[in-house]
Amino acid sequence: MEMKLKMLASEKVENSKRLTIRPEIKVWLARAITTAIIWSIFAQMIALRELLGPILLTGMPYCFSSPVVFQIGEKSLVPTKVVLPPKRIYKNNGYLMVSCNGGLNQMRAAICDMVAIARQLNVTLIVPELDKTSFWADPSDFQDIFDVNHFITSLRDEVRILKQLPSRVKTRVEQGLSFSMSPISWSNITYYENQILPLLLKHKVVHLNRTDARLANNGLHTDIQKLRCHVNFNALRFTSQIEELGRRIVRILRERGPFIVLHLRYEMDMLAFSGCAHGCDIKEEEELTRMRYSYPMWKEKVINSELKRKEGLCPLTPEEIALTLTALGIDHNVQIYIAAGEIYGGEKRMASLLREFPNLVRKETLLQPSDLMNFQNHSSQMAALDYLVSLESDIFIPTYDGNMAKVVEGHRRFLGFKKTILLDRRLLVNLIDQYTNGSLSWDEFSIAIKEAHLYRLGSPKRRIAIPERPKEEDYFYSNPHECLQLIDESHETLESTLS
Ligand SMILES: *[C@@H]1O[C@H](CO)[C@@H](O)[C@H](O)[C@H]1NC(C)=O
Ligand SMILES: *[C@@H]1O[C@H](CO)[C@@H](O)[C@H](O)[C@H]1NC(C)=O
Ligand SMILES: *[C@@H]1O[C@H](CO)[C@@H](O)[C@H](O)[C@H]1NC(C)=O
Ligand SMILES: *[C@@H]1O[C@H](CO)[C@@H](O)[C@H](O)[C@H]1NC(C)=O
Ligand SMILES: *[C@@H]1O[C@H](CO)[C@@H](O)[C@H](O)[C@H]1NC(C)=O
Repeated sequence: MEMKLKMLASEKVENSKRLTIRPEIKVWLARAITTAIIWSIFAQMIALRELLGPILLTGMPYCFSSPVVFQIGEKSLVPTKVVLPPKRIYKNNGYLMVSCNGGLNQMRAAICDMVAIARQLNVTLIVPELDKTSFWADPSDFQDIFDVNHFITSLRDEVRILKQLPSRVKTRVEQGLSFSMSPISWSNITYYENQILPLLLKHKVVHLNRTDARLANNGLHTDIQKLRCHVNFNALRFTSQIEELGRRIVRILRERGPFIVLHLRYEMDMLAFSGCAHGCDIKEEEELTRMRYSYPMWKEKVINSELKRKEGLCPLTPEEIALTLTALGIDHNVQIYIAAGEIYGGEKRMASLLREFPNLVRKETLLQPSDLMNFQNHSSQMAALDYLVSLESDIFIPTYDGNMAKVVEGHRRFLGFKKTILLDRRLLVNLIDQYTNGSLSWDEFSIAIKEAHLYRLGSPKRRIAIPERPKEEDYFYSNPHECLQLIDESHETLESTLS
């Protein structure tokens, strides 16, 4: 392949010479250019295949393309014996209490931020309180989801963490002498040093009652970024019950062969919230709208579903994802683990995906009901299981860029840049519409989709920073590049992929 590419290159040079010297051979030239284009597309197809790994090649025997990465992945599920670090000795500036808000993965990122803030301010952190009133209404406490003792001890060389306030300070809080507030989103450490530290010194206890995205993505000292990673990848470990069951699911899947995790965020809450109703019937659309109006927390009420979809702001539908996976050349027999709750529209909506990829599985089909009984009514614990399986999959494909998609993407980068296909939804829906109305042939459609995702596989790169617009820049937890070894910061070239 490399050789052919080189031939192609020299052919191009020749072409440009002839262009000036002998303009009369235009026809030949046109044919040469066409050949060149076809070759480059073909070369890119090969590159995509190599990047996606042999497991996706229809009819090819499976072999691990990157055994090292696989081992790292396995290890991450096995609790290793850690030597406890020495305690950090520092003058305590007060007590920081935090109440996390949102779902599991939003809270996970927030916990990492809060540890970094507490470390920087030299305060004592109280084990974070988890959200029990969010949409998911999970009554789990921190210790029901995370290994709390490991959390405390593995961070003791950075910051002192207590399960609860010392009784003397607790009395102050009970007397209403603490201070409660929501810090400003996307703040840098200077804000916490200048605004929050004085409050801590004054009140002794400060309670941060919102934690989502309170720390900036960029412009923070490398030590702070590395601490965020240390918390995320080392200190935060799920409870042994969750880890054990997660391992079991992965083992069952592995015994049957390679697997892809599809984070199919096609759930009722997401559709109601986003106002995305493409492919729903009138009754369903009304149901979604009713739900949206019944949640005062969801501010956007009047939504044009089709417009939003065209902008790439809707989760992909099961039908759209079936077309996309087929166009990408994914093996139709590969196991696809659906990481999601209940799919809106149920079997009816899953039919086309199931027809194309009959090997669809989920934790409910791999385990006995009794295995899941203790987790069932705890959405965050169920999400934790999906998180573990997502980390271990050969390929991870999110259909929407929510918190789970982002945090798992970042964690997989950390585990050796395990492949995550970052779908370009805006482009995808446009191509899908062109294919379904007949203005694109299947081959054109498939080639366009493959080409568009050649460099969207979660490989090494730096985050995009957009000063003043933190929501639009790359999220720290989806690509914590300060903690990763970026072998080559520039995009891999086609030639280097092939050689
Ligand atoms: C935190 O403690 C370190 C010493 O361990 C000190 O150098 C630093 O100035 C302290 N920072 C604050 C905000 O108190
Ligand atoms: C956080 O605390 C502030 C100040 O007490 C209060 O105004 C705000 O409503 C609280 N927010 C939440 C989410 O509890
Ligand atoms: C932190 O943010 C403030 C305003 O929010 C800004 O003025 C300051 O320059 C920032 N500091 C750093 C170190 O980026
Ligand atoms: C889960 O909740 C449902 C409804 O609230 C209840 O019927 C069921 O018994 C609960 N299951 C378990 C295992 O607690
Ligand atoms: C097909 O759909 C595309 C994208 O929506 C649109 O731009 C194009 O005009 C449509 N073509 C036909 C023939 O309907």
